[in-house]
Amino acid sequence: MAGKSPRESSVETRYLLMPGQANPHGTAFGGAIVAWIDMTASMAAQRHCQCEVVTAGIDSLVFKEPIYVGDHVVLKASVNYAGRTSMEVGVQVCRENPFNGQSIIATKAHLTFVALDKDKKPTVVPAIEPETDDEKRRFENAQMRVKARKELLNQIKG
Ligand SMILES: CC(C)(COP(=O)(O)OP(=O)(O)OC[C@H]1O[C@@H](n2cnc3c(N)ncnc32)[C@H](O)[C@@H]1OP(=O)(O)O)[C@@H](O)C(=O)NCCC(=O)NCCS
Repeated sequence: MAGKSPRESSVETRYLLMPGQANPHGTAFGGAIVAWIDMTASMAAQRHCQCEVVTAGIDSLVFKEPIYVGDHVVLKASVNYAGRTSMEVGVQVCRENPFNGQSIIATKAHLTFVALDKDKKPTVVPAIEPETDDEKRRFENAQMRVKARKELLNQIKG
C-alpha cells in the first residue's frame, strides 16, 4: 500500500461560535469544541485511509485560551503518524476575531483513530510520509507519544 503525506489528507474548517455553544460565562463550552475537534480529525483520518474510522482515544487536549461568542473557530487537522491500523491526528484550534482578523491558538489536541473494514474489524492503513520540517517534527513527536502510551499500558496492572 503506497504511503501518503499528511498534506494529502489534511482538513481545515471553520465555525462561528454561537450562544448555544457557550458556557454561562459567554466563552466556548469545552464539549462543543471537543465535538468539532473529533469531527474534523475523523475526516482527516478518513481521507488518509479512505475507509470507516472510529475514535479510539483522545490522547491530549489542552484549552490554552478562551474562545468568545462571535469568534470564528478555525480547526486544522492532519495525520501525524500511522501505525498498522491506527492513526494519530493532531488538531489545532484557533480563535479568529472576525473584525480585525487577529488569530490565536486556543486549543490543541491529539486523537487516535482506528480504520475499520466492512466487518468492522481493524484494517491496515497507508504509511505516513512526512515531507516538510513541521510534518517530520510532528511525526517524531507522535511516534514518542505512541511508544509512551504503550509502555504506560504495559506498566499499569489490572
Ligand atoms: C478502537 C477499537 C476498534 C480497537 O479495537 P481492538 O480490538 O482493541 O483492536 P486492536 O487491539 O487490534 O488495536 C487496533 C489498533 O488500535 C490501537 N488502539 C487500541 N486502543 C487504543 C486506545 N485506547 N488508544 C489508542 N490506540 C488504541 C492499537 O494500538 C492498534 O494500533 P496499530 O494497529 O496501529 O498498532 C475498539 O476498541 C472500538 O471499537 N472502540 C470503540 C470506538 C468508538 O465507539 N468510538 C467512539 C465513536 S467513533
